[in-house]
Amino acid sequence: MSLKGKHLIDPNDFTLEELDEIFDLSEKIIKDKEAYNSICNGKILGALFYEPSTRTRLSFESAMLRMGGRVLGFSDATHSSVAKGESVADTIRVLSSYADIVVMRHPKEGAPRLASQYANVPIINGGDGGHQHPTQTLADLLTIRVLKGSIEGNKIAFCGDLKFGRTVHSLIKTLSRYSGNKFILVSPNELRLPKYLKNMLIKNGNIDIYETEDLESVIEEIDILYMTRIQKERFFNEADYVRLKDSYILTRNKLNNAKSDMIVMHPLPRVNEISYDLDEDERAVYFTQARFGIYTRMALMSLLLGVI
Ligand code: NCD
Repeated sequence: MSLKGKHLIDPNDFTLEELDEIFDLSEKIIKDKEAYNSICNGKILGALFYEPSTRTRLSFESAMLRMGGRVLGFSDATHSSVAKGESVADTIRVLSSYADIVVMRHPKEGAPRLASQYANVPIINGGDGGHQHPTQTLADLLTIRVLKGSIEGNKIAFCGDLKFGRTVHSLIKTLSRYSGNKFILVSPNELRLPKYLKNMLIKNGNIDIYETEDLESVIEEIDILYMTRIQKERFFNEADYVRLKDSYILTRNKLNNAKSDMIVMHPLPRVNEISYDLDEDERAVYFTQARFGIYTRMALMSLLLGVI
């Protein structure tokens, strides 16, 4: 079994054994960071960000730099040849000879998949529109594995924008492949999980799902609360966004009845959905989750490059 040369476009591209290999290596890196600081000497990461990003882009860059490699790319497509009308296919054909591995974020669903068909280096999807975000899923699953002890057998509530939130789509898709998890989907009616994903869960058979608009009514029973931002940039009109944007605001008080070992996750950036007073609560793990994103990306890139 080897991940060398593979692309990561959709979380289902990897088997559970391959995901385990990434998490095992991430945990080794956490324990001895120094041991990995030159494994990517001479390697170049191409970072093509056609859409805004802070954590994903910088954590990919940090991950490559921490392994002794280098980074090139753009974070604003208006300053690249894309502004002249260049296609993703042409950009990636050229980039394949400039970089050894490429991460791409794009507002159009499917753009990284298309890129992978023209590339001769591994392509990683850094988020495509409202579709998928597999490397956030790696960070999320490592967080769950380390802090909850297992990726199986948890009751997880997803709260907020389940319609457009790509981090939720990728995480639900992946968690449903592990056994014993139960999902509670908490969202306003207009922002419910897309039908194709719900049907996939139902078809899967062994997944217990419950939908509600009321977070407080389920807070006592959950092991993991995955909060999300209302995805302003995917709305068709401002009025709908304004009406829905403050649907859920999690404060420390609202956790009074929650389990003492429950964890609150969030892919970040947060806007209003988690109040700052919660940061002091030890159940708030979103900053740890962001830090774990670096280690999973180090593990992922070193395995795809075959340097380990
Ligand atoms: C997420 C994204 O870009 O989808 N952020 C991230 O990568 N950590 C979540 C979001 O933007 O709300």
